[in-house]
Amino acid sequence: MLKLVCDSCSRVFPASEKRILCECGGLLHVEAASVDVSWETLRSRRYRLWRYRELIPLPPGAPIVSLDEGGSPLIQAIRLSEELKVNIMVKLEGSNPTGSFKDRGMTVATSIAKFLGSKALIAASTGNTAASMSAYARRAGMIPIVLIPSGKVAEGKLGQLQLYGSVIVEVEGGFDEAMRAVLEYSIGGGDAYIVNSVNPWRIEGQKTIAFEVADEAGVPDWVVVPVGNGGNIYSIWKGFKELKDLGLTDKLPRMLGVQAEGAAPIAKAYTTKVYEPIKEPKTIASAIRIGNPVHWKRVLNVARESGGSIISVSDEEIIWAHRALARLEGLGVESSSATTLAGLKKAISEKLVDKNEKIVFIATGNALKEPQTMNLHEAATMKMSTLKIVNTTALSEVLKSITKNA
Ligand code: F0G
Repeated sequence: MLKLVCDSCSRVFPASEKRILCECGGLLHVEAASVDVSWETLRSRRYRLWRYRELIPLPPGAPIVSLDEGGSPLIQAIRLSEELKVNIMVKLEGSNPTGSFKDRGMTVATSIAKFLGSKALIAASTGNTAASMSAYARRAGMIPIVLIPSGKVAEGKLGQLQLYGSVIVEVEGGFDEAMRAVLEYSIGGGDAYIVNSVNPWRIEGQKTIAFEVADEAGVPDWVVVPVGNGGNIYSIWKGFKELKDLGLTDKLPRMLGVQAEGAAPIAKAYTTKVYEPIKEPKTIASAIRIGNPVHWKRVLNVARESGGSIISVSDEEIIWAHRALARLEGLGVESSSATTLAGLKKAISEKLVDKNEKIVFIATGNALKEPQTMNLHEAATMKMSTLKIVNTTALSEVLKSITKNA
């Protein structure tokens, strides 16, 4: 019953086949037989992501490669909710083993790679996929090969690649060029197993974000997701639909996808009805600096099907939101993750989102990935030596003046 089905021509392939795209070039998705499972059973387990194992289809006999990913915190945004007059919760995906949501998809894709007997994994990446894949490849005893845009990956992510000893191929241009190279390699029959989100098994892991949100807070009115290549918003929507089909929930959220203005071909297509890739995508949010997202059709469909939307926000708005999440809520997220708050603010001003609605942000990555972006925000730093503080009275005077202005 477990099979891979083409989005475009509906052709079916066995789940045990090492295949990423259909022969027609279309994207594949996993289809599994319906299961009978209750929240009680799912909740009774110790593992995080793999507590949902009945809902994460694997071919029989596939071993599970895991770092106990998933189970990320869902945190109430107290001040921002009050200020924007909605109810915001933030899903902190930066708590995953390598600091981003990618680990959810990678545990499944690496398990399949192990099942297929692959010796190496390969992916194009703006950094997080590469870091996650490298950790899971090592966990499974495989070689990680990553194609990254030269000079355009955040320092924290590059550090992770060094730590895991990845084979790094620096590609001239951007993510889109790296992605094209990996797809050509894969279609050409390359040995290393491709684990970009075109890999249908990645989606099966990432959809668990929906399971956790629904379990912990119920199905919200809106789920706000940063969009780069588009795999994650599609995965989360798939997860919510499956829960409803299984009778585990009784409603669906509206999905709000947010792109960065200089890298927003899907947001543009959503209003103009014409999709045009962007040759040189530009944004401070390097994780989502993508001009030709692989899942663009799926993302447009998610927005329409869910009654949601795909919008874009400027770099200034992203930087404001990055700072606001940290300073008003204590939440350190990646700049690309901060598009959620920037996008919600815009959606409220455009009257897309109503007062008192329940919103969940998917904060996709950890702030520590991007030291240089964190450095854009100044702290109220004072060095004791420069101040020549000689006693605690002097210190308390100085601190009084700082805290008054903070
Ligand atoms: N947020 C972060 C932190 C990301 O790293 C990415 C994607 C996204 C959001 C967007 O997710 O592509 O599924 O729409 N990063 C990929 C990478 C492209 O290579 O790490 P998406």
